[in-house]
Amino acid sequence: MDNRPIGVFDSGLGGLTGVRQLRKILPHEDIVYFGDTGRVPYGSRSPETIIQYAQQDINFLLSKNVKFIMAACGTVSSTYPLDRAANLPVPYTGVVGSTVRAAEAATRNRKVGVIGTAATIRSGSYDSLLRQLVPGVEIHKQACPLFVPLVENGMVGMDEEITRLAVAKYLGGIRDAGVDTLILGCTHYPLLTEQIRAFMGPEVALIDPGKVTAIAMKEALQALELLADPAKEQGSAEFYVSDTVEAFSASADLFLGQYAGGKVERVAIETY
Ligand code: DGL
Repeated sequence: MDNRPIGVFDSGLGGLTGVRQLRKILPHEDIVYFGDTGRVPYGSRSPETIIQYAQQDINFLLSKNVKFIMAACGTVSSTYPLDRAANLPVPYTGVVGSTVRAAEAATRNRKVGVIGTAATIRSGSYDSLLRQLVPGVEIHKQACPLFVPLVENGMVGMDEEITRLAVAKYLGGIRDAGVDTLILGCTHYPLLTEQIRAFMGPEVALIDPGKVTAIAMKEALQALELLADPAKEQGSAEFYVSDTVEAFSASADLFLGQYAGGKVERVAIETY
């Protein structure tokens, strides 16, 4: 048993998709979340910059004495070197592995769409694992650089015309290719689920990386005997951001719904 918090990070709001699921399935766990809102988006940056930012995010979480780190960010998961992750003082997971395994389980026709940030799509992270796990898979991929700014600006509802146009522009080719499974390869994208589902149709399985990785994390914590004491009261959540607290709090609370609340503080992430 281990009552230290779980550390989760992303460039902004996207990682909350993981936090929401962790709160739901691991109610006794404390969570420390870092959203790098002052430096979002990561996905349009070079691998060197993404690695530098990710390292500072990880150093910050380690300073909070976390027991496990989840990079709830497709871009970091696709870029941060695995050998570096393996040498961290606590276990680390990105989102690519669990997401691809969920897509493997979901696809029937072996036509899978992959969307993500420019850095993620360039890295080929999801496709190379998909090819290993799903022989003969046909992959249709597309970078969607406008999605993260739309989410960070709260333009996620069905009534947002700009978002509807962006969804149609990016996903038209993938829909026409007849995929039965779509990997939402950036943790921000599940916040656009309503719009994406309306465009792709109800029969296409949408894979949410934050959600499936949180589920896998529960199993990993169990296997490593790192779960919090079940007799402990309800777990807490603390949120840290690198830009203003106000902008983050309103959107975060809205998204976390019944799991909203917890202190939000600003940190000088460049000093970590
Ligand atoms: N939510 C992130 C991801 O999963 C980062 C998006 C960004 O900052 O560009 O890729």
